[in-house]
This record gives sequence, C-alpha cells and structure tokens, in this order.
Amino acid sequence: MSAITLTGARVVDPATGRDETANVVVDGGVVTEVGQGSAGLRLDVDGCVVAPGLVDLHVHLREPGSEDAETIASGTAAAALGGFTAVCPMANTAPVTDHAGVVEQVLRLAREAGHCDTYPVGAVTRGLRGEELAELGTMAALGVRCFSDDGLPVRSARVMRRALTYARTWDAIICNHAEEPTLTEDAEMNEGELSSVLGLAGWPREAEEVMVARDLILAHGLGARLHVPHVSTAGTVDLIRRAKVLGTRVTAEAAPHHFTLTDACVADYDAVYKVNPPLRTMADVDAVRGGLADGTIDAIATDHAPHAPEFKDQEWGQAPCGMLGLETALAVTLTELVRAADDAAGDLTLPQAVAALSTNPARSRDIAGHGGGIEPGAPANLVVFDPAQRWTVDATQLASRSRNSPFAGRELTGKVVHTLLRGRFTVRDGRLAG
Ligand code: DOR
Repeated sequence: MSAITLTGARVVDPATGRDETANVVVDGGVVTEVGQGSAGLRLDVDGCVVAPGLVDLHVHLREPGSEDAETIASGTAAAALGGFTAVCPMANTAPVTDHAGVVEQVLRLAREAGHCDTYPVGAVTRGLRGEELAELGTMAALGVRCFSDDGLPVRSARVMRRALTYARTWDAIICNHAEEPTLTEDAEMNEGELSSVLGLAGWPREAEEVMVARDLILAHGLGARLHVPHVSTAGTVDLIRRAKVLGTRVTAEAAPHHFTLTDACVADYDAVYKVNPPLRTMADVDAVRGGLADGTIDAIATDHAPHAPEFKDQEWGQAPCGMLGLETALAVTLTELVRAADDAAGDLTLPQAVAALSTNPARSRDIAGHGGGIEPGAPANLVVFDPAQRWTVDATQLASRSRNSPFAGRELTGKVVHTLLRGRFTVRDGRLAG
C-alpha cells in the first residue's frame, strides 16, 4: 500500500479540535502528516471535508438468520458507502447473538468482507426472552462492550438490575430497548390525534419514558453504564438531561428518522414509515434536535433495520418495524441539521455533527482507533465527503439488500466521496472499492 495524500480539504476532527484546511498524508495504514506536505498518490479533495470515519452504534445486519434482508457483507458495504468505518450490529439475529459462537461468526464474516470494522452487541438475555442472562462473560472476553435485547425490552426490573450489575464487572454497557410492553400491546403508531383519525392503536410516549426512567434509576444506584437507544420523545430527552446533571453514567443516541420525520408520514398507511419506536410529533423532533445540539444525546445512530420487500411491502398492520439508514445518515444530518456554511440557523455546526456521527459514539463504546485523532500515528480511518453535492436517494441503487428507506426519492445535500479503513479505500469516488 503506497502513500496517499488528500489535498486541500477542510479537516474536521473533534477529537483534537482541529478544523482547518490541510493535506492529510496516509501511509502504512496510519496518518503520517496533517499539514502542507505530500507523498505518494495525490487526490485533490478541495471543497470536501476529511473527517474521522463514522461510527454507528446501532445497526441490524440480519446475519445469521435473515440473509434475504441483509448479510454482513451487504450491510457493511452499505456502511462503507455511508462513510462508516465501524458499526455495532445488534443481537436480534437467528440464532440470537447470546453466546460467543455467534459473536465469533459475525466478527469473522465482517473481517472477510473487509468493508468496515464491527463491534457486535451481545444479547442481555438468552434468546432475547428476558428471563436468564445470556453468556455475558464469554462475550465480554471476546471484546463485547455492550449488551442489548434491542427490538425487545428487558421487561423485568430484576433482570435489568442483574444485567447492569454483571456488566459493571467489565465496565460494559447495557442498552435497553426503551419500551414498557404493557403500554404498547398492539400499538402501531404514535398515540395522538392522528392515530385516532387513522384508526391505528396508539403507542404512548410514556411507554418509552417509563422504561428510561426505570433504567436511569437502576443504573444510577449501581454506578453502572446505561445507553439509551433511539430516543424518540421530548420527555426522554428531559429525563436523560436531568440524569446527566445528577452524574448518572448514561449515554444516548437518536436516529435520523426521529430528528426529521413525524407521525404525519403515516397518513397514507405506507409501511416504510413503520418503525419502533414510532415517528412522533414535531415537538419531539425539535426536542431530539435540541438534545443533540446541547450534548444530552451523544450520538446519531441509524438503527439500520433492513426488511426484505416481501415482508415490508405489505399493508400497515402486517409489515415489520424498521427503516434503512446507513447510506443516508450523513446526508440527512448535513441536509437537516447542518446548514450551508455553518450559518447560525443550523441546529449543529459541522464539527458537532461529526462528533455525533463519529467521535462521541466511538468514545461512548470504548472503540479505540475510530472516532478521530487525525494526527500522525493514528489509524487512517477516515471519510471524505463533499458537503455541497446534491443527490437523490434511489432505493434501487442502495448496496443494502433491502429497499425500505424512508428517504427514497428525497434530494439530499452531502455525499461520501472516499472512505478509508486503515489507509485502504473501502469506497473510492463514491463506489465500493474492489
Ligand atoms: O424498528 C425497529 N426495527 N426497531 C427495533 O428496535 C428493531 C428493529 C428491527 O430489528 O427490525
């Protein structure tokens, strides 16, 4: 692998606070210089941003078990095209990632595919049944830092408390799908005026907030680490904000669909908008944006949830919950949250957006070598994107095996040009590298 110099870009690195125009020289898998020098192949990326490769705390890669929807190879290819160099696949596979064997399988398949690094999330409970704890210790020994039954909540407070207690042994993190199930039986969309008009059973915001409140209390009491996934309500943002003031060891993420779309999307019963937790109201969207802006919500995570068309393209009641996100997250964030030239009207500055998509998620999950520090000696895990390029999302052109993007047909601003994993192109000129 010979040296590469990315010339003339705006280098944005929240880990070092760097935000300047410079050349980035990469050699032998690491950054060797940030400055005026150059070596090897020169790639003119004037007008682009060079940032640390993005890190997604929450994806569903569906392998093993639902390879018709996604495989580790297709999902990590989608990730690389979206600018990601690290993703954390959730445990709701079949078989469930509740023991070392599946963790090893996921790591091996991802390594073979070579598109990005994976940090598998282990299940909290065996078979996601919410009863006995999964093999947390053997998974932790393989490097698993986070455990979640995502898709299903740990409904028992006793089991949740035990899980937090065990996880604390390794200073690992429990991420509980925040849904109090007795409040969401048969629920199909956000509870509100529109759910009444549409005749769909409502999913009250309190179902999320009650569970988050319970988990915050448990984690606080134990001094254990809690991560709140896919924050969707204003009340949840408030709970986390207050918990952080109290010193609770909590981190949180929000998905692009929850800071851009509302329950109004459901009006035509198009199941592409069916997701768990559901799309909420504009007040919730604004609160989630506020949470990202003030740091209450640490990370943007996609909750990339592919579903094969034969399942997702059904009528509302039959269709599964979930949306694609990996190939659109950066552009949706740039288009919706970061205004051109960082004008004051944006919710996030560009460095804040990069922090939410890379530096903060990497730190919150103890992922070394990703999330920045673009400086000599650091692994060259980088994304180069053009913040001004417009493109229209064409669901048929995505690398994902599934098509369920809620942003299909939308024009977005901001496009990934190159992604580098340890100095090697995984994406070059917007295409998957061979
Ligand atoms: O909409 C969702 N889909 N939410 C989840 O929590 C799980 C996910 C899935 O696995 O499809």
